[in-house]
Amino acid sequence: MEQNVSVIGAGNMGQGFGVHFAVHGHDVTLVDHRDSNLERAADRMADAAAELRDGGIADVTPETVLDRVTFTTDQAAGVADADVVLETVPEDLGIKREVFTALGEHAPDDAVLASNTSGIPITEIQSAVPDCADRVVGCHWWFPPYLLEPVEIVRGERTSDRTMDRIRAFVEDVERRPITVEKDVPGFVWNRIQNAVIRECLHLLEEDVASIEDINAAVRDGYARRTSVIGPFETMDIAGVEQFRTVAEHLYPHLCSATEVHGTFDDRLAEGATGIDAGRGFLEYDEPEAEIVARRDRRLAALRRCFESFEE
Ligand SMILES: NC(=O)c1ccc[n+]([C@@H]2O[C@H](COP(=O)([O-])OP(=O)(O)OC[C@H]3O[C@@H](n4cnc5c(N)ncnc54)[C@H](O)[C@@H]3O)[C@@H](O)[C@H]2O)c1
Repeated sequence: MEQNVSVIGAGNMGQGFGVHFAVHGHDVTLVDHRDSNLERAADRMADAAAELRDGGIADVTPETVLDRVTFTTDQAAGVADADVVLETVPEDLGIKREVFTALGEHAPDDAVLASNTSGIPITEIQSAVPDCADRVVGCHWWFPPYLLEPVEIVRGERTSDRTMDRIRAFVEDVERRPITVEKDVPGFVWNRIQNAVIRECLHLLEEDVASIEDINAAVRDGYARRTSVIGPFETMDIAGVEQFRTVAEHLYPHLCSATEVHGTFDDRLAEGATGIDAGRGFLEYDEPEAEIVARRDRRLAALRRCFESFEE
């Protein structure tokens, strides 16, 4: 069903949402507080649309995508006809609360008010809008949103069942897989799992068990590759529940359970090794940042095509 979708924040995620929702036939209003950000967003969305077309992911052109998107710095007008609002401003509770307070005043009384926060409790955002907290819900995507399937739907303490149903239906309508998170826990589901894996990787590195390159390869080419076709629960079922129970008994005492941030983070940062923007983080890079990101996205698109070609 075609809906009016307003996206608040035209940064990395907002641009991706604009493209993805337009590709799926929705009229999108993209709101930012700076004109220059909207201009940059339009350019990047045109590039993303061309990438989706060239990668065989969507039958679109930059023009057909941008025709469906309205750009504005006027948030009140930008949400006035919205069925669904998706907030994706910076990860700062104060900024998000201000945006939601304004949404409470200007969005239609029946609009779903969703936040793409990666980790701020939805319940804290709800407290900014006590009169319509039942319509506030988490709707957490990953980058790039037009290539990755799962979307966490996070229930805050006051989110109604109807809001949960409506946002799930919207996410399914744009061909995404809702992951229902019934408790507003820190990190929701994906980020808890991702950080548990990263914590163990850093622990193995700090204990000189293996090199960065080898840990990277073990996860990327082994654990993650197989996990991309069967999830952890199927993995246990295929190997046998008894086997995983036995391994857990012996291994859990040795796994990292640190509650302090690993010193390796601070060592890297002190050396200016902040990541691809600096040409080095945990690894060294001699290509421009944009090329590294584009290659990752081309590989994700290729994987997606591959999965779509499976016939069970
Ligand atoms: N980047 C990611 O990989 C990623 C993935 C999942 C979730 N998230 C979450 O998405 C949200 C946005 O992340 P991002 O990476 O797109 O950030 P970003 O900094 O790229 O973009 C944020 C945009 O919001 C705009 N903005 C700031 N205040 C505003 C306001 N009051 N009204 C309208 N626009 C405003 C900024 O001008 C900017 O264009 C964060 O909550 C983040 O945690 C990010």
